[in-house]
Amino acid sequence: MRILVLGGAGYIGSHTVYALAEAGHSVAVIDNLETGHLAAVHPSATFYQGDLRDRDFVDGVLEQETELDAVIHFAANSLVAESMRDPLKYYDNNLCGTKTMLESMVAHGVDKIVFSSTAATYGIPERIPIRETDRTEPVNPYGETKLSMEKMFKWVGKAHGLRFVSLRYFNAAGAHVSGLIGEDHHPETHLIPLILQVPAGKREFISIFGTDYATEDGTCVRDYIHVTDLAQAHIKAVEYLMEGGRSEIFNLGNGVGFSVRQVIDAARRVTGLPVPEREETRRPGDPDVLIASSDKARELLGWKPEHDSLEDIIATAWNWHRRHPDGYRD
Ligand code: UFG
Repeated sequence: MRILVLGGAGYIGSHTVYALAEAGHSVAVIDNLETGHLAAVHPSATFYQGDLRDRDFVDGVLEQETELDAVIHFAANSLVAESMRDPLKYYDNNLCGTKTMLESMVAHGVDKIVFSSTAATYGIPERIPIRETDRTEPVNPYGETKLSMEKMFKWVGKAHGLRFVSLRYFNAAGAHVSGLIGEDHHPETHLIPLILQVPAGKREFISIFGTDYATEDGTCVRDYIHVTDLAQAHIKAVEYLMEGGRSEIFNLGNGVGFSVRQVIDAARRVTGLPVPEREETRRPGDPDVLIASSDKARELLGWKPEHDSLEDIIATAWNWHRRHPDGYRD
């Protein structure tokens, strides 16, 4: 297959490009390198640097890429707190970028897209585990724009025959087993890479944001899913569309929740090093518990996470951080 990956220099995008290349597929990548890293792009991929909001640029790529089977779309801003401070940045990049890309895809006859969506589309869950049919009421502009992007695909599908798969991830974590690529965000806000900065000597302690949640130990519970398992799900989703599958939305998680304290303890076991912690007040907008039901992805896509142990997920992240203490800048 020839696949165009939008945002293929980012964290989950780069792991998906690696998985596609390892499975023998040929890949082109578009990335504006605002948050992505050129060093994360698989050497076999054709790289186009540019922005999805630039119609001439996108048309130029699709005019060169005449053999495309599908597009995989990761090119979006994804920080919840930033989206609360600057919602229009999210409407502009996430929605306008997707709109321009879809216009160009329709004009060039590219009719399949797999989309990187999020559990943030649900907002505060009405039940656990969360199913795809549950209420979607985002509580931040990040989740709202991702939900709007899904709806854009739906309506463009009705009008122009586009088929899409939207993959709503829970908490992506871990790194490629080779240690060649991993998670490198600026600023970093995610729990596992922040914890690992402590044994790496870059941070004195990990903050626990809130100890009064309605959970067993009072800290938030999340469903951590290995980035390589997410990457495999994208390949399965493209294959599903290639086989004629109709547009669908799938949750991707392990179906098991771990509290912030449990994640910190697991990181202590994996690294064998002390991780001092400090209890702090709640971070605004964090739901108590987010756990996915991924039954639908298992049944329809035949997807099954391979890395279902939290220690395993943290160990691959630790391997990357030890090899690349300054991320891609080293
Ligand atoms: N946390 C801490 N200390 C930290 C960092 C995080 O206690 O230093 C806590 C958070 O409060 C939260 C948990 O660790 O309870 C996980 O936080 P992350 O920031 O790693 O992940 P989130 O669950 O906030 O975010 C994930 C995805 C988002 C998505 C969101 C849906 O990364 O893209 O789930 O709510 F929007």
